[in-house]
Amino acid sequence: MEITAPRGTRDIMFEEARLWQRAEEALRQLADLYGYSEIRTPIFEHTELFVRGVGEATDIVEKEMYTFSDRGGRSITLRPENTAPVMRAFVEHNMGAKAQPTKLFYFGPMFRYERPQAGRFRQFHQMGIEYTGSASPMADAEVIRFSLDYFKMLGIKQVKVHLNSIGCPDCRPRYKEALKDAYRPNLESLCESCKKRFEVNPLRLLDCKSPECRAIVPDPPEVEDFLCGDCLEHFTKLKGCLKALGVEYVKDPRLVRGLDYYTKTTFEFTSEGLGSQDAIGGGGRYDGLVQEVGGAPTPSVGVACGMERLITVARAQGGLEVDSAKPVAYLAGLGEAGTAKAMELAFKLREDGLAAEFDTIGRSLKAQMKYADKLGARFVAIIGDEEIAKGVAVVKDMAEGNQLEVRFDDLAQHVQRAVRP
Ligand code: HAM
Repeated sequence: MEITAPRGTRDIMFEEARLWQRAEEALRQLADLYGYSEIRTPIFEHTELFVRGVGEATDIVEKEMYTFSDRGGRSITLRPENTAPVMRAFVEHNMGAKAQPTKLFYFGPMFRYERPQAGRFRQFHQMGIEYTGSASPMADAEVIRFSLDYFKMLGIKQVKVHLNSIGCPDCRPRYKEALKDAYRPNLESLCESCKKRFEVNPLRLLDCKSPECRAIVPDPPEVEDFLCGDCLEHFTKLKGCLKALGVEYVKDPRLVRGLDYYTKTTFEFTSEGLGSQDAIGGGGRYDGLVQEVGGAPTPSVGVACGMERLITVARAQGGLEVDSAKPVAYLAGLGEAGTAKAMELAFKLREDGLAAEFDTIGRSLKAQMKYADKLGARFVAIIGDEEIAKGVAVVKDMAEGNQLEVRFDDLAQHVQRAVRP
């Protein structure tokens, strides 16, 4: 029986893989401009990191993690996200002792056992940045603006920025109580997950997608009315910074996000044309996470974007284009000696940094010509016994349509002149 890729995973190949390379290059370029350095954390971590970091009562920890015991009996989890791992590394390597802030970026696969659908996978990729060691709303604004600059580099237009503040451990309990008061009279009519949320994570009542639940409490109390002085000032200043940076946003009082570490700012980016999975990225401030994973209190803010979704939108909007890699020269060998010479010459060209291809599956000359055309080779050099005797190749210029004899020793120079004048 044929073995296929596991459900919720996919192969990225050929032209699409080149698009991914482009997107990664763009990220590195932008990260250099903004002063973020790369961090590559392990694909798996101790399960405890996510239980503590992301939060026991979140969907991710409750039902979406790929968790297993390794042969040493340790509980290991494939990372469902990378903020907790990056903060684990921040603490482990005592990055807080260096001049602050610490600005890191990453790119890599994440794993969540979710129900696969368009734009939702079990192995997916995120690019993300984490800005650690600053409590200023300017840091929040930078993270948001970085994301928008990145979308622009990928040719993605019309991104909607949703913004909210969910307060801090000082002011949030009061808001949670107010929410519970609003939902309590109709508790029995709520969906099963909302009933649970009511008990364990009342903020999540706000992002239930069920129209029935939404109709039950159409106007829940708004968090902004409950923010403490510090959180309110942060939110007001952030809005000012975004205005100064030309960032348009919509205030979304329901935006609580599905990870427990957020404090104050939360935000999400959506784009049209993706269907129900329209969030291309999201993030927020998480001032308590570093402490949660064993470090000193360190205010931080960050974002992560789903690469599959970004690439889908970028392709649909024609922003990301790539041309496939084409060989400069195709060495077409005739007969045993010609074939051997073709191989030798192809490697000589490659040594000179010129992409060259030759036949290894015994194609006829006609089939080789056809194949060279399919590959898009600019030159085809034909080598048979007669050419070997003369020390030349018959070089066809597929763009100009001409043909001439070129000495083996001059071949590199000949094709080079044409492609890099
Ligand atoms: P998140 O909202 O869970 O946040 O994920 C960020 C983005 O990853 C989503 O907006 C979406 O584009 C993409 N994504 C999530 N799950 C999937 C999936 N199953 N398939 C495809 N794409 C997916 C975080 O992960 C936080 N760590 C973000 C952050 C960084 N907060 C602060 N710093």
